[in-house]
Amino acid sequence: MNVLIVGGGGREHAIAWALKKSPKVNKIYAVPGNAGIAEIALCYPEIKSGDFDKIAEFLKKRKDIGLTVVAPDNPLADGLVDFFNERGHRAFGPVKSAAQIESSKAFSKQFMKKYEIPTARYEVFDDYVEAVKYALSSKHPLVIKADGLAVGKGVYVCENTRESKHAIDELMQNKKFGKSGEKIIIEEFLEGPEITILAFSDGKTFAPMVSAQDHKRVFDDDKGPNTGGMGAFSPSRFYTADVAKDFKENIMKKTLDGFKKEGIIFKGVLYFGLMLTSEGLKVIEYNARFGDPETQVVLPRLKTDILDIFNACVDGTLSKLKIEWEKNCCVCVILASGGYPGEFEKGLPITVKDIDDDVMLFHAGTAKSGRKLITDGGRVLGVTVCGKSIVDARAKAYKNIESIKFENMHFRKDIGIKK
Ligand SMILES: Nc1ncnc2c1ncn2[C@@H]1O[C@H](COP(=O)(O)OP(=O)(O)O)[C@@H](O)[C@H]1O
Ligand SMILES: [Mg+2]
Repeated sequence: MNVLIVGGGGREHAIAWALKKSPKVNKIYAVPGNAGIAEIALCYPEIKSGDFDKIAEFLKKRKDIGLTVVAPDNPLADGLVDFFNERGHRAFGPVKSAAQIESSKAFSKQFMKKYEIPTARYEVFDDYVEAVKYALSSKHPLVIKADGLAVGKGVYVCENTRESKHAIDELMQNKKFGKSGEKIIIEEFLEGPEITILAFSDGKTFAPMVSAQDHKRVFDDDKGPNTGGMGAFSPSRFYTADVAKDFKENIMKKTLDGFKKEGIIFKGVLYFGLMLTSEGLKVIEYNARFGDPETQVVLPRLKTDILDIFNACVDGTLSKLKIEWEKNCCVCVILASGGYPGEFEKGLPITVKDIDDDVMLFHAGTAKSGRKLITDGGRVLGVTVCGKSIVDARAKAYKNIESIKFENMHFRKDIGIKK
């Protein structure tokens, strides 16, 4: 089967890499893809992931594509899978109504409350004055979130009333994230380590993947602003057998039952962003897709043919498939452009020398200028390695980073070391 991937980051490179291992996959295409994906797939940089008409036109012309994997949040929230379904194209990913579990935090919080899925206590506001009044009289720290998608920057953890007032001003008055901040969620601050569980779903069953943790802050020791993720590792040492039991009974099962009662048919990957609090596991948020960079450490541990899994999700036959995982550990260190997540320069030449064979160098923001590899985003490369332990895998990752250079390259030195 020929497969098209929509997207062009490290996550999409990891998906392409996993598909490439399948003997059943013939050709892989990607829109827009990137310079790394182009080593294993045919990329079309001129077709952006939000350009539904161009993608549909491409599918009509190619005719030989049996499945399209829609990976990024925006096209899912905007209904790209519905758009494909209407045109008779098979697509892996949730339809728009199901993707709401990510694209509206107010929707997902109401869903969790209704089905008694453990999460932080919250209130939703669409009135500025009411929101400020509530925040000023609330206990701090307090967490303030934009309802809609905000490129991972719509959440403010506020230490005092001055900070909460500022967050509400940014979202509701300065409209920093446009329509996404017209409604906001104000919720209780929770404490504890965060764990990511991704689960395949065919609309009837969930098949949870191995656990992972990511590092969101830009600097070592979790300092500095939030980013799209500076690294990840799998498994999480906090995801013990007891915690897994708690997850399956109190979160995964209740989520599935809730979906069934609401008539939500979720096909694709559901991302559970969890926090292990003193009161047990709680859901911080859902995403309606593979997370990045977690995907880069989870998929290398997958033994089962990923095409079989994608097809089973689309066809509703996931319960018949046995999904197997390696017993190893995996670490991914992100190499970012200096200045990221703020302003940064693009187009800087990248040199890669003598990388070990077992390293997966997933490209996040790269392009080609003639034959030269250049930087093309905030997050540039994900250096991913598996090993016997996290310690072993991270040592291999950092050793290989010494062979990669570009001007102002920045990376965290503590990926895989977490409280
Ligand atoms: N209630 C909360 N208590 C403490 N920290 C939180 C809370 N909600 C979110 N956070 C922190 O903010 C991060 C981003 O929040 P999240 O809801 O996952 O939004 P998004 O990923 O869409 O930006 C979380 O990973 C977590 O570190
Ligand atoms: Mg999140």
